[in-house]
Amino acid sequence: MRKRAGQSIGEAKDAETLEKVRVKYLGRNGELTKILRSLASRPLRERREIGLAANKIKQELLQLFDQKLSQIKAVNFRPGAGLDLTLPGKKVRAGHFHPLTLVENRIREIFLGLNFSVVEGPEVETEHNNFEALNIPNDHPARDLWSTFYLKDQQPETGGRKPEAGERKLLRTHTSPMQIRYMLIHQPPFQIIVPGRVFRYEATDSSHEINFYQIEGLMVGQNISLANFKYVVSQFFNRFFGKPVPLRFRPSYFPFVEPGLEVDLRLGDQWLEIMGAGLVHPKVFEAVRYNHQQWQGFAFGLGTDRLAMLKYGIDDIRLFYSGDLRFVRQF
Ligand code: DAH
Repeated sequence: MRKRAGQSIGEAKDAETLEKVRVKYLGRNGELTKILRSLASRPLRERREIGLAANKIKQELLQLFDQKLSQIKAVNFRPGAGLDLTLPGKKVRAGHFHPLTLVENRIREIFLGLNFSVVEGPEVETEHNNFEALNIPNDHPARDLWSTFYLKDQQPETGGRKPEAGERKLLRTHTSPMQIRYMLIHQPPFQIIVPGRVFRYEATDSSHEINFYQIEGLMVGQNISLANFKYVVSQFFNRFFGKPVPLRFRPSYFPFVEPGLEVDLRLGDQWLEIMGAGLVHPKVFEAVRYNHQQWQGFAFGLGTDRLAMLKYGIDDIRLFYSGDLRFVRQF
């Protein structure tokens, strides 16, 4: 057995085979182990004799195993023998932007190229900025257009006093309140865009989310008309899609513009509604104490998610917020 075992050890080419040999002889039910275990039931004289011999063999075999194992390991670490240095390595996954970020960045870039400034505002807004100052009074039926998340009353700013109408806090339902914030501390002429996240208290489906992204646009100056707006948006869409995109302007209603309109664009053979817009309503200028005889402006609101869906051919807005890496990794 000593000879057989020694030979198997010598012939083993890898650690796995060697381990099998070890189990065969020295494992719990190994041949040598069985002999050693059987000693107890033998006569004293035999016990001594066989015990000595068996233990000697065990020591020898253990030593052979050790030697062989380090030999195998040494061979495996020699380039070209066992370790193939030409095999491709593990792929390193670099971080990358979310598709919505990619699209927003592109939009920012285009508008910067059209001499617009980019500004941002808070997601928690006052009812005043989100509604009243935009000509949407409390009892106005147009409030129904924006299903709103209101924050709990008793804000610290009011010292525990119940907030007056307009002081109440909410999650902004659109980026339009930044028109108010910006105009209160700047004088025209200017042109800005406001990218940002907005919130709606709504059931979700493939085209609705409780939060999504918008780009607000506002240009105020002397003699600004819809012609200026038309130029800016067509420049924008042509650059965004990298080709001339036909646009269509339809009359529509938003309380903060007059006239109000909706812009459709044609991709393939379909007209798609893409943004709301109009000329800034005199009431809005009044709210920020601009002289509406002196200044005119246009405003627009664009859905970032919508644009991203068109650009990438995505049919469900919820994918953007699913956190599903199989989706995000495609961009
Ligand atoms: N705030 C509107 C919305 O979220 C979009 C919009 C429409 C913005 C017309 C504008 C505008 O600035 O002029 O539904």
